[in-house]
Amino acid sequence: MVILLKPLFLGLSAFRAVSAENPRYTELYRPQYHFTPPQNWMNDPNGLLYHKGIYHLYYQYNPGGTTWGAMSWGHATSRDLTHWEQQPIALLARGYPNNITEMFFSGSVVADVDNTSGFGHSGKTPLVAMYTSYYPYAQTLPSGKTVQANQQAQSIAYSLDDGMTWVTYDSANPVISDPPATYSDQFLNFRDPNIFWHNPTKKWIAVLSLAELHKLLIYTSKDLKSWTPASEFGPVNAVGGVWECPNIFPMSVDDDDNNVKWVAMIGLNPGGPPGTTGSGTQYIVGNFDGTTFTADTDSIFSGTTPPPRDSIIFADFEGTGTFADLGWTPSGDLIGQSPANGTLSGQNPVTGYLGKRLVNTFLNGDATTGTLTSKSFLISKRYINFLIGGGHDINNTAVHLKVDGQILRSATGTNSESLSWQSWDVGSLLNQSAVIQIVDTVTGGWGHINVDEISFSDSMARSQVANWVDWGPDFYAAQGYNGLSSDERIAIGWMNNWQYGGLIPTSPWRSAMSIPREFSLKTIDGKATLVQAPTEKWSSVVSHKGLDQSWSSVDQGTKSLGSVGKALQIELSFSDREPAIAEASQFGIIVRATADLKQQTRVGYDFATKEIFVDRSQSGNVSFDRTFPATYYAPLAANAKGQIDLRVYVDWSSVEVFGGQGESTITTQIFPSDSATYAQVFSTGGNTRNVRVEINQISSTWDD
Ligand SMILES: *[C@@H]1O[C@H](CO)[C@@H](O)[C@H](O)[C@H]1NC(C)=O
Ligand SMILES: *[C@@H]1O[C@H](CO)[C@@H](O)[C@H](O)[C@H]1NC(C)=O
Ligand SMILES: *[C@@H]1O[C@H](CO)[C@@H](O)[C@H](O)[C@H]1NC(C)=O
Ligand SMILES: *[C@@H]1O[C@H](CO)[C@@H](O)[C@H](O)[C@H]1NC(C)=O
Ligand SMILES: *[C@@H]1O[C@H](CO)[C@@H](O)[C@H](O)[C@H]1NC(C)=O
Ligand SMILES: *[C@@H]1O[C@H](CO)[C@@H](O)[C@H](O)[C@H]1NC(C)=O
Repeated sequence: MVILLKPLFLGLSAFRAVSAENPRYTELYRPQYHFTPPQNWMNDPNGLLYHKGIYHLYYQYNPGGTTWGAMSWGHATSRDLTHWEQQPIALLARGYPNNITEMFFSGSVVADVDNTSGFGHSGKTPLVAMYTSYYPYAQTLPSGKTVQANQQAQSIAYSLDDGMTWVTYDSANPVISDPPATYSDQFLNFRDPNIFWHNPTKKWIAVLSLAELHKLLIYTSKDLKSWTPASEFGPVNAVGGVWECPNIFPMSVDDDDNNVKWVAMIGLNPGGPPGTTGSGTQYIVGNFDGTTFTADTDSIFSGTTPPPRDSIIFADFEGTGTFADLGWTPSGDLIGQSPANGTLSGQNPVTGYLGKRLVNTFLNGDATTGTLTSKSFLISKRYINFLIGGGHDINNTAVHLKVDGQILRSATGTNSESLSWQSWDVGSLLNQSAVIQIVDTVTGGWGHINVDEISFSDSMARSQVANWVDWGPDFYAAQGYNGLSSDERIAIGWMNNWQYGGLIPTSPWRSAMSIPREFSLKTIDGKATLVQAPTEKWSSVVSHKGLDQSWSSVDQGTKSLGSVGKALQIELSFSDREPAIAEASQFGIIVRATADLKQQTRVGYDFATKEIFVDRSQSGNVSFDRTFPATYYAPLAANAKGQIDLRVYVDWSSVEVFGGQGESTITTQIFPSDSATYAQVFSTGGNTRNVRVEINQISSTWDD
């Protein structure tokens, strides 16, 4: 069956007449240089292929609306990864719009230059797409295969006109109907094939996800039609949500062709980076031999990161005594009790604590209630760090910091028996006398608290569970291009998040793609690390006519840069600084601010925590989702010269930050008003030295 349609204007009539070929792209939040469809809903990038001088971008698309549904493959093409041309829908949901019997979920495309599939004819190279078929109904397919309601299975289609029109391989689809027998119950969550040619073994490889089990399945094939399961990988590292959209690809480390590593890039939803809610993308460095992906041990995180080196341990609950013996004053059921280990009757194993014992108030199950109050101590360092798990009630299964009997800081768990680090910034309370109180007054429904390793440090303790491709909330389902030279790796991510993706205030489209990013691997801190930069090709639309200023020192306070615009490339560099521990110590730039600063997005560096950050809490319209107004952090050390370098890409509804060499990125959407064109630099907690700021305009890529 040929699935070929004219450009689809369904659903467009409600909006002003914009032709798909020549959209005006001037709506309030319309990205000027990030890809968006003219109208309707978009999610994952699919089928990224460079072929005959053209970059293809297929994408998950709903032809009938601005929220997820009727999943089809939209299509756009580009010669420079910058200017995109809309193409007709490549794969339209079967039966659309009245009775959809198959949707086309995510997948990838290869050029079968050797005609291994036999799909070629008349000298034409077949392009082959492999995607997940989603069947809303149980049905018997033209191939004679039967599928169950809501089944996900893998199918192929081919194109003989360089990707413009596609023929689904109905005589045999789906070519991978079911997961392997061991995982046969996973047929509802088996998806997102990423296919590529593996030259050493002369085979096609497909990497698939068993989403709920946090596993990748690797298949091999000689002809793209008949697939054999070869191995599996996972679960490892971040597993806080389903695994989706896996990719594996090779890259040389430090441009050394004799040191090639493979990277597995995996979407995760929810369970993204620390401080985000919803989707995220992690990567794992390792090796692939044509059959099996093996992770490098330094790319796997197990157990809890120790507290920062300078920590003074206040309470680790080790030894043998009761709470009272350890200097804590118990009340209620905790009188006479002791720290426990992580295997208590009726409780799932507790993980993530350090040493042998911790505070675990699941002593008589959740029925145990009481408090533990520490001896008083002088606050001597900026952070109080502790490991915490258990219940989620900030008042009743909690840890409190009390000064003069007042609760000034509180923390609680997240309904998890796995402890992770939390911190209080107590810089403003230095030299004051305080006590810590551990409280459990809840008797059921996560009515217990787990606490360990309370310690004082000048740095915040963080739990590292994964290598994050991006530390922001808006980079998901990333996919790399097939068809590039072996030393080139370019990827695009969906610049949105399932937490609020369907609520963002854009119209008549929803969702944008990230800037196409060039990936490489560099040794940083002794570890092969993913490094990212906007593709060079992309820079053609940057006009180097903007502001360029240097200061040997910027005093504490702010410096206005005036009205600089809405689509910008900013280069910011400055010297690292020893933080004054008593107060926030940051430097950065405010962008997309209104003249009165009521709207603003802060991009900067925290000298105390050695982190870059984007604060979008006042970035404009933040009201459509309660988790949207927030600040996102990514670790970044100063370079060898003691400088911090940030490249910031601002668009009409996004900010993407590349820190250092590109080893830390933060991608965030923002929805500021049209008049939010102002910028300022800010320095808090002291002056900042050797500052240079360059701001360049980025012109619309939709003008011509
Ligand atoms: C929709 O398609 C399914 C599967 O072919 C069929 O069983 C069902 O009757 C159809 N429904 C309608 C309303 O046409
Ligand atoms: C590809 O293989 C098919 C099946 O063997 C054959 O009919 C066709 O001629 C081949 N096409 C090309 C371009 O080689
Ligand atoms: C944990 O504590 C329980 C109860 O006191 C004890 O039976 C068990 O041996 C301990 N386990 C470990 C690993 O120490
Ligand atoms: C916790 O207690 C404070 C003060 O009584 C109250 O305002 C707040 O709503 C409580 N929070 C929750 C989650 O119960
Ligand atoms: C805290 O006390 C120390 C030692 O007495 C002193 O040097 C320091 O200035 C004090 N810091 C603050 C913020 O009061
Ligand atoms: C913010 O966006 C939401 C979702 O589109 C919309 O309902 C709301 O009216 C917007 N708020 C403002 C102040 O524009």
